Amino acid sequence: MISKSLTDEKSIKTDEAKITKPEVKDIIYEMDKTSSIYNYAAAEKGKVKVKVKLSEDKIQKIHDICANFNNEAGELINVLHQSQQTFGYLPAEVQEVIAHCLNVSTAHVYGVVTFYSYFTMIPKGRFPISVCTGTACYVRGAEKVLEEFKKQLNIAVGQTSDDGKFSLSCLRCVGACGLAPVILVGEKVYGRVAPDGVKAILDAYKDK
Ligand code: FES
Repeated sequence: MISKSLTDEKSIKTDEAKITKPEVKDIIYEMDKTSSIYNYAAAEKGKVKVKVKLSEDKIQKIHDICANFNNEAGELINVLHQSQQTFGYLPAEVQEVIAHCLNVSTAHVYGVVTFYSYFTMIPKGRFPISVCTGTACYVRGAEKVLEEFKKQLNIAVGQTSDDGKFSLSCLRCVGACGLAPVILVGEKVYGRVAPDGVKAILDAYKDK
């Protein structure tokens, strides 16, 4: 169980309604041991009830990240950046804890996460595929390569395959224009990729 220190009372907006946020000292994270679901429970006022499926050490990690930035609302982007590096993505549950720590509304955090394409609410696959769509790669057929990955994986850009193995994204020039079109699978770089070479690349990860 983790408790928080005192700050002033603030208002926050949730999807359901505008509610008054109790003093942080009144908010306690409680673990429901049967379901492993954590609740924010406002000890006295009972007005904040946000269920999050995060383990206690993950919640603590978010607290540590926010504390590194002095729990300042103005550091939200840095906090999100570091949280995404830590968790790989930013699910609603993580956003809610960040909102609480920085004393801002969950709607505000969600707005920032969805505004910047860098942030994602979808977990990446074990083998994230990034197709370079920079100018050199584009003129040498990156779009057709991308289409082939979409077809083979049956996912769109920004999505993850059902088995959680592959996710698909685009990025700008990776500095290997001489090898265009270029794709990355994790850290591994593949150059001069043609649409008919896509299947072989995916097959290389079949048994991994
Ligand atoms: S444009 Fe793709 S590597 Fe430069």
